[in-house]
Amino acid sequence: MSEWIDVGPVEDVPLLGSRVVQTPGGDIAVFKAADGTLFALRDRCPHKGGPLSQGIVHGHSVTCPLHNWVISLKTGEAQGADQGCTHRIPLRIEGSRILLAASALLALAA
Ligand code: FES
Repeated sequence: MSEWIDVGPVEDVPLLGSRVVQTPGGDIAVFKAADGTLFALRDRCPHKGGPLSQGIVHGHSVTCPLHNWVISLKTGEAQGADQGCTHRIPLRIEGSRILLAASALLALAA
């Protein structure tokens, strides 16, 4: 298996929004920040499992739609006084395609 998995074109992810990719390790949310930077996190809030893909993207963070925890898109960690971390999936862009690290997805599926 290749080390990187192609999950679609960059333009499929809306600016300040996300797209959910289904993987054997569960749903992965690919976010696009206002500056165009892309991030991939497991689509589960570290608080109570809320769908981060439906949150509000601001800066390089997303606010969970359920109880407003703010999660760093870079690290997956909760910000401020909240404690917790969701899995971050290494991502790279090749041409206009988004690639996710296969090893990180396999680790989630294990
Ligand atoms: S489930 Fe995300 S803040 Fe509670």
